[in-house]
Amino acid sequence: MAPGQAPSETAMWNNITFCSICKPSPNSTPLLLPRGLTLDRVFQRKCKGNSKPSTQPLQSEGLKRPCSVLPSRLVSSKAKFRRYAKTYPVLDGRVLSVYRHVFEENLRNSEAVVKRYSELLELVSKGGGENAILRHTQRNKKLFVRERLKLLLDDESFLELSPLAGLNMPYGDVPAAGCLTGIGKICGVWCVFTANDATVKGGTIYPIGVKKQLRAQEIAMQNRLLSVYLVDSGGAFLPLQSELFPDKAHGGRVFYNEAIMSAMKIPQVAVVCGSCVAGGAYVPTMAEEAVIIDKIGTLFLAGPPLVKAATGEYVSPEDLGGAKLHSKVSGCSDHFASSEKEAYECVRNVISTLNYEPLPDEVIEHDGPLYSSDELLGLAPRDYRCTLPVKLILSRLLDGSRFQEFKADYGTTLVTGFGHVEGHLVGVVASNGELTHDASLKGSHFVQLCSHRSIPILFFQNTAPHAAEPTSISQAEAHSNRLKAQASMMAAVACAAVPKITIVIGGCYGSESYVMCGRSFGPNFLFLWPNARVALVDSRHLTAVPQTGDSDSTDESELKRLKQRLEEESSAFYSSARLWDDGIILPQNTRKVIAQCLQIIQQQTYQVIPPYQHPVIRM
Ligand code: COA
Repeated sequence: MAPGQAPSETAMWNNITFCSICKPSPNSTPLLLPRGLTLDRVFQRKCKGNSKPSTQPLQSEGLKRPCSVLPSRLVSSKAKFRRYAKTYPVLDGRVLSVYRHVFEENLRNSEAVVKRYSELLELVSKGGGENAILRHTQRNKKLFVRERLKLLLDDESFLELSPLAGLNMPYGDVPAAGCLTGIGKICGVWCVFTANDATVKGGTIYPIGVKKQLRAQEIAMQNRLLSVYLVDSGGAFLPLQSELFPDKAHGGRVFYNEAIMSAMKIPQVAVVCGSCVAGGAYVPTMAEEAVIIDKIGTLFLAGPPLVKAATGEYVSPEDLGGAKLHSKVSGCSDHFASSEKEAYECVRNVISTLNYEPLPDEVIEHDGPLYSSDELLGLAPRDYRCTLPVKLILSRLLDGSRFQEFKADYGTTLVTGFGHVEGHLVGVVASNGELTHDASLKGSHFVQLCSHRSIPILFFQNTAPHAAEPTSISQAEAHSNRLKAQASMMAAVACAAVPKITIVIGGCYGSESYVMCGRSFGPNFLFLWPNARVALVDSRHLTAVPQTGDSDSTDESELKRLKQRLEEESSAFYSSARLWDDGIILPQNTRKVIAQCLQIIQQQTYQVIPPYQHPVIRM
């Protein structure tokens, strides 16, 4: 891959080894255009839309009766779209020449971070490396995990979650945290998958791998998505057992969740497609239905070496816990498959027995934005000082660049309003400067509106790295008032009973990041742009080493070290490696990812949930 370029289109679209969230859109212009070309297009473009709201009566758009006289549930989504989206005002997304300098600076930074992102993706796509893949596929006669997903999932792109998790950890690189997770369709139904990559230290589970599996289960529970586990794991990575075993959010929680999910009527199916030892053995055994593959699938608490050590007797892995034994004798698996291909076909058949309704196959008619998504690279702020008006970003994400703004002239450092993404109605809450008192009150009001109207909320977060320090009593008073207003918005966000999706488009700093639905506020999905910075404070605002005790020494070199560390720890890659988010997405793919998430979230509204609450217990 040429430096500075994203993976080529063919590689991305034809090859499932890359996640869909990092694929450039098929009809987008090359990712990093010659700069002159991009800028010419940006600065010369005329606003195509009509910024005035249409006053046309509904009848003229083909509706026989005004929708307002129908109960909302009887109005088709198509009719809703016609009624609302096409009458919202069109945003003016032209980037004025006064912003040219900032746009260019942002674009240069985006080129650098996208290059780094592509390199890291390339690295993790190779799992444990070429030798490990050869050993896995040739000696152990198993399919590489990404090939397995190709056989399992419908022939469509899937949403891979946190592909960069596990890189550069204190205990080394664990590509993709040793297991792939994501959401893809099987038989038309959106499912969460968790698939061990046995080329990474025999698929053993590291602390970050536990975190990744637990997050996948949380997503399944929050969005009521059925789950499929492809298990090929040597259990706990023993040298780190103390970070894996004893605590509540450690390994055992995965098995606990399996029971709870089953009781919640979230079906789970597992495939034993390799050695499943110790902890690796419980995942399929706790699943509602399990398939085991002849010759390559084995399942036991202690393998042949331990049996030999304890009894002096040699027993082959297959005799100890192979497919025939578990299908005919122990009952730990429910289906015997003679090959990997047969196993994934079996899973598809099992899923078709779940009586789970896929989303109706209707396409909601919608318009694309009027402005190119490639220009988001110049709008993605290099740092907080390079932030341009957020409506320029919204005009590149919303259908027809149309936006029904709420309280446009009040608390303008927060932009709130309604729009559509691929036909889905959403409430938008977007940072446009520091979250002032008025902006926070407006945010609280708007979030409650969305909650009352059952409208999913999109948060576009770019929070200020540093609140100005008060220099007078009256300013200190103003700060307290702002604190109170922010607290009310936090409460509104935490309690809004609607799906929430957060995209960090710039800074994710300090307490304002909670107000803008950061990770601890439990959004259904949270993604970062590669330029994002995540930290309590910005390193540039650190003027002295925080002192402990009575010491007041200021050591310049220590300050420099601290700043450097803060700088490294604030990058989007550092965050994603630790699973503080669900992955990094390219700005120009944001609309596609949001639309996919909205569809995924919507699936649960089509399921019938029975009143009883008990898990299916293996007999
Ligand atoms: N903890 C730490 N490292 C482990 C491990 C474990 N539980 N299991 C395997 N590994 C490491 C191996 O040391 C090897 O490392 P290396 O590549 O640096 O040499 C790597 O994983 C691959 O193991 P290997 O045995 O060569 O691969 P394999 O495909 O032939 O077998 C297993 C994989 C998992 C079936 C086999 O290694 C095994 O049975 N491991 C023991 C599992 C166990 O006892 N788990 C108990 C957990 S409580």
